[in-house]
Amino acid sequence: MPNKIIITIDGWSSCGKSTLAKQLATALGYVYIDSGAMYRAITLYFLRNHIDWTDPKSVKQALADIQISFHFNPKSQQTEIFLNDENVEYVIRDLVIAEKVSDVAAIREVRSYAVAQQQVMGARKGIVMDGRDIGTTVFPDAELKIFMTADSAVRVERRFRELFAKNPNINIEEVKANLEMRDYIDSHREVSPLRKADGAIEIDNTNLTMPEQLEKAMKLVKKII
Ligand code: DC
Repeated sequence: MPNKIIITIDGWSSCGKSTLAKQLATALGYVYIDSGAMYRAITLYFLRNHIDWTDPKSVKQALADIQISFHFNPKSQQTEIFLNDENVEYVIRDLVIAEKVSDVAAIREVRSYAVAQQQVMGARKGIVMDGRDIGTTVFPDAELKIFMTADSAVRVERRFRELFAKNPNINIEEVKANLEMRDYIDSHREVSPLRKADGAIEIDNTNLTMPEQLEKAMKLVKKII
């Protein structure tokens, strides 16, 4: 398709960013990159290797030992993340990681490391990337910027259902507390806090079905390409 663009999707935790990003990438034949997965993979590495992330020197050293890459898995039909050649796509979704990831993602060195790699991935355009700072910091000149929101009770319910499918011992209060904590840290940190980018178009998907949200976003895309 001529005229490839960059599409950024930012917003609160669990408001359907990755679902929309995957739908758009499939519809357009674009690459989908889950930038949150990078912060989760770094958190996994820090936890496994007992890295003291309050110490900038230890963080820098640890980052030098980390290689992150994304590969399309034809079996799952999705792009999956690898941490030093290990597929960590599923392990990083655990609540243990979710409890620490916002703290790790607030570290300046971690953000520069991730942002630099994200910018390289978008150099040839034809990419949909979701996260918290994609439209503000990573690709401020992106052709289409979307900011997603959804009612917080709906977001808790969605994330609970997702986690419950893997772990029936999970309780909804735990999930709600984690989402509230992450939203707070993500939007109040010093470096690149979550906010709606200049020129971003808001989509509230509280009452939208998946086909409806895709239709809305595709209308925006078609205006551009
Ligand atoms: O999208 P997610 O829930 O997988 O993201 C995990 C965490 O990573 C989230 O709490 C905030 C952080 N994050 C970020 O700071 N910047 C991004 N571009 C993406 C995610």
